[in-house]
Order: sequence, then C-alpha cells, then structure tokens
Amino acid sequence: MSEKVVYLDNNATSQVAPEVVEAMMPFFGPLYGNPSSMHAFGGNVAKFLQKAREDVAAFLNASPEEIIFTGCATESDNAAIRGSAEFFGREMKIITTKVEHPAVLQPCRRLKREGFDVVELGVNGVGQIDLEELRKELSQNKKALVSAMWANNETGTVFPIAQIAEICREFGAVFHTDAVQAAGKIAIDVKKIPLDMLSISGHKFHAPKGIGILYVRRGTRLKPFMLGGHQESGRRAGTENVPYIVGFAKACELASESLAQGEAPRLAAMRDRLQAGLLAKCPDAIVNGDIENRLSNTLNISFKYIEGEAIAYHLSDLGICVSTGSACASGSLEPSHVIRAMGVPFTAVHGSVRFSLSRYNTDEDIDIALEKIPPVIKRLRDLSPFGPDSDPTTFS
Ligand SMILES: Cc1ncc(COP(=O)(O)O)c(C=O)c1O
Repeated sequence: MSEKVVYLDNNATSQVAPEVVEAMMPFFGPLYGNPSSMHAFGGNVAKFLQKAREDVAAFLNASPEEIIFTGCATESDNAAIRGSAEFFGREMKIITTKVEHPAVLQPCRRLKREGFDVVELGVNGVGQIDLEELRKELSQNKKALVSAMWANNETGTVFPIAQIAEICREFGAVFHTDAVQAAGKIAIDVKKIPLDMLSISGHKFHAPKGIGILYVRRGTRLKPFMLGGHQESGRRAGTENVPYIVGFAKACELASESLAQGEAPRLAAMRDRLQAGLLAKCPDAIVNGDIENRLSNTLNISFKYIEGEAIAYHLSDLGICVSTGSACASGSLEPSHVIRAMGVPFTAVHGSVRFSLSRYNTDEDIDIALEKIPPVIKRLRDLSPFGPDSDPTTFS
C-alpha cells in the first residue's frame, strides 16, 4: 500500500476527532465512577453524564429526558422498532422502505415472520419513495409504525423527512427515522419536524464506534428493548458508557460548529469536483441517487461492465479507501439491495462504488483520487469479458 491514505469511506466510519478523544480521556482516568452510585465520587460523574445529555439534546433541539444513550445505532433502530411493536402488538402495521439499512430491515423482517403486517415501500430510479403510496398504506385505520431513513448510506439520497413526518402525524402513525447519515451533515430540529423517534450513531460523525442515541419524543409509547437495571430512566438497561457519551456530546458540538461554518457546501464542492472528474475521465459511468436531494458528502457511481469489489480492492492497494454496497454472501456476490431497488440497469448494478467525504478530506485527496482511479477503471474494463456489445442477460 502506498504511503498516504486517501480516506473516502466516511459513511462507513469516520476518524475520531482529536477534541473528542481529549474530552473522553478523564473518564478513562480519575473520573471512573459509576454515575448510578450513591457516593459523591460516582455522583460527580453523573453530573458530566447529565451535561452530555443536555448537549446532545441541544444538538437536536430536544429535551434532555428525550435522549436515550445506546450502544450503537443498530441498537437504537432495533429498540425503536421492536419496542413499538411490543407495545402495540400485532394490531400494529409496520411500514418501512426497501432501501433502509439492515439495522431497520432485519428487525422489520423478523416481525413479519412473527406475524406482523409489514410493508416495504419501493423507490423510484433516484431512490425516492412515493408519498401517495405511503398515504395509501396508512389509510387503513390501523395503528402504524413508519420507519424511513433520513438519508441513504449508499447513495446519499435524502428523503423528504418533514413531509413524511407530517403524513404520519395526519394518520396518527408513530414515525421513526434512522438519521445515522444525516447527523452532522444536515441540521436536525425535532421541534420543527413532528417525528417521534430518531436514531444516530457516534462513529459516523467523529465520535467513537459503540455509542449511539435514540431520541424518543415525550409521550411516545415504547417498551424497553434492553432489560435489566434502571438506567436511562428505565428505558435502556446497562451501566452508561460515560467516556463515549461525553465523546458523543463533544462530536455533536463540533458538528454544530462545522455546519454553522459552511461545512456542507465545502464538502459538496469537493464531492462535485470528484464526480465531474470521474464522469469526464471514465466512460460508461453513471451517478446513482437523487442529485437534487443528496447528502453533501456522498457520491455513488456505477462503473458499467466491471465489479465494484474489484475496483475497491485495486484502489485499496493504491491507498484509496472506498466502499461498495455489495455483500459477500455464501460465496456469491449479492449486489446492493439499495441499487437494485432503484432499478439501476443490470449492466451497472455490480459496478457501484461509494465515495464519502468528511471534514478531514482535502482538495489534495480529490486530486489523488482523480489521478489514480481512472487508470484502474480502464485496466479492469480491458480485462472484463463484458462491454456494451455483450449479452445483457449475463449481467443480472
Ligand atoms: C443508515 C445507517 N443506519 C444504521 C447504521 C448502523 O450503525 P451502527 O454501526 O452504529 O450500529 C449504519 C451504519 O452503517 C447506517 O449507515
């Protein structure tokens, strides 16, 4: 691998901010008390936990008691979906979308196997759901839970979350959104959008892995997912991970500052330069997702006739980190469920690659990517048995 790593995989995970590490350190040292302890030594730590809760609440314009700290966003998503389902029982209908992260899709599918009425809404060519279809599914006089992501992790497509929330409110449905990829990239204000629950993960915006939150609007009915002690007001058992919670709060503060300082347009400018450069230098490449409504940091390109895995593997050798949406399952390469749901032409489904930026990327990273990626694409194309003239049925 070459010396400099060009990290363009921030939707997978991001660098922990040095300020976050610094904020966490005392809690690995002298401030190791248990915030639930009776003594003042633990009680002192409880004050920092409360301050972190207030800071995270401020990030969302929520109230501190509406924040539940979790172990990750996968837990937050499971807690929201299963907690709701358990409260309302099989009478409740669950509506989600085909392009959700597995952390939402899998619990919904499990509930379907357990006898719940579960609907997965399809998406159009740019990854957007049809709001009329949502209305139709909701107009059955049944209590419903809707779980729809704020922004897609693979394509960056941003759902019209305010409109979805309004529709849910109109029909009395509970609305949960997986805001993992939106947090830190889009300002979130739960007073402006009538959503009921929202999941965020720390490691996608410069806090460590293994810390998340579930925002639960006051009055939302939910059974606790993790049972045990009385922590988080009885809503999530388990001794609080104070160092990571403090780090998460610091990451929220940094994200608010970055957003206020114009981080989103800066990232969008770099992303757009990467997009324009790759499209100009690599023939037969298409952009996946909703270009009009897309996260500022995300670019998903399908390079036709070649495999995304091969591209990612060769780029890794050159120190460039990217992702593909595919999953290696039982020896066969399953194309991304998101790209497939969008009906991307079969010649392009396998060749999708995601580039995702963060505040730590520089213009130099984009220069290196634009210099090194096109020759890799050309080399793989030269080796590929497929091309514009080959039998289309062999691609699907
Ligand atoms: C949209 C989305 N939801 C949920 C998750 C899961 O987050 P965590 O790694 O904190 O469990 C991810 C992580 O890839 C994600 O991108």
